[in-house]
Amino acid sequence: MDTKRKILVTGGAGYIGSHTCIELLESGYDVVVVDNLINSHPESLKRVEKITGRSLNFLKIDIRDRDALKKAFSENNFQAVIHFAGLKAVGESCQQPLNYYDNNVNGTLVLTEVMADAGVRELVFSSSATVYGDPHTVPITEDFPLSATNPYGRSKLMIEEILRDISISDKLSANENPWRIALLRYFNPVGAHPSGLIGEDPNGIPNNLMPYISQVAVGKLQQLSVFGNDYPTPDGTGVRDYIHVVDLAKGHLKALQTLQGEKFSQGGCEAYNLGTGNGYSVLEMVDTFSKVTGKKVEYQIVSRRPGDIAQCFADPGKAQQELQWQTEKTLQDMVSDAWRWQENNPSGFQ
Ligand code: NAD
Ligand code: UD1
Repeated sequence: MDTKRKILVTGGAGYIGSHTCIELLESGYDVVVVDNLINSHPESLKRVEKITGRSLNFLKIDIRDRDALKKAFSENNFQAVIHFAGLKAVGESCQQPLNYYDNNVNGTLVLTEVMADAGVRELVFSSSATVYGDPHTVPITEDFPLSATNPYGRSKLMIEEILRDISISDKLSANENPWRIALLRYFNPVGAHPSGLIGEDPNGIPNNLMPYISQVAVGKLQQLSVFGNDYPTPDGTGVRDYIHVVDLAKGHLKALQTLQGEKFSQGGCEAYNLGTGNGYSVLEMVDTFSKVTGKKVEYQIVSRRPGDIAQCFADPGKAQQELQWQTEKTLQDMVSDAWRWQENNPSGFQ
């Protein structure tokens, strides 16, 4: 086994992590997943193995458990880490800020310290378009001003800044094995693996649009509340850049390849937007969902959700150019794959 192609995936049992494990295994990488299962089910990893016909190594570890993490690094020769582990619910982060800062920020500090000690300095980090706050215009490029409006967003922003700082510190100390870091700013990940075997499995009532629509269509929820139709957008409802989770997962492989290439030969820390560049409104999403699935999605217009912005979509040009990555899936693919997962697994992984 070529141990230089072994990747540590933190949070790999989760929604985006499990889809990325598939792409890694199918591309010949060996995978070790570290996850404390706080927001996921081990069945997702069994299904990853079923889809790919390959096995992976799962370690039930909290990334803040320094000793357990150190042991994982001493027992494996990792090329790189893809770091998904984190808490991600905006509302919950407002209620439990310390928990979010401890889990997301402190967790990343422990991880990067253990990585540095082990001499593994290649990192792909799950950031979010939330770091752009309320953008002054769209499409959004990576050099837009950064800001955050809630503890979740601030935890992502703090982590980005910490990672930029450790990369800068290399230049000051002329480190021979400098950090190579990709900050991947995801827009709105949706959809599921086309097999219908893995997908998003939110706890309780979903906060995000696509899982909410799916659960209305499958009859678990009565109707969608559309949060505001008085935004300055073509139909008044919020516009977002929905990206198929399989396209997103492939972006991580492209980032790994780029970190190994010429651009990062002297180290560095770069941010990349992972989005399609297209914006769709809430009502367009409802309409596409009904057309693709043949299911009527009942909805009512209610007032705006506090903290929501009118429009958010990416300029994915930098990722296209530097990562040689672009999305391939259509909105129809996103909807039909989300629906296949929902219909086949009405109770998720339970
Ligand atoms: P997810 O909750 O499905 O996956 C995160 C995984 O991390 C879960 O399996 C969870 O159990 C694990 N985890 C959390 N804290 C941990 C800890 N301390 N130690 C070990 N494991 C831990 O979420 P996701 O949608 O797959 O998101 C993955 C990453 O991408 C997160 O960092 C999230 O903030 C970021 N992100 C997600 C979205 C989105 O809409 N899904 C958008 C932008 C960024
Ligand atoms: C949310 C998070 C953001 C995170 C992103 C990742 C909030 C406030 N923001 O953003 O931090 O990075 O997910 O995917 O939670 N909508 C409805 N009814 C619903 C749900 C959503 O009308 O029941 C609308 C929203 O107002 C928005 C759009 O659908 O216009 C998308 O919402 P959502 O899926 O929650 O994503 P974001 O708001 O972009």
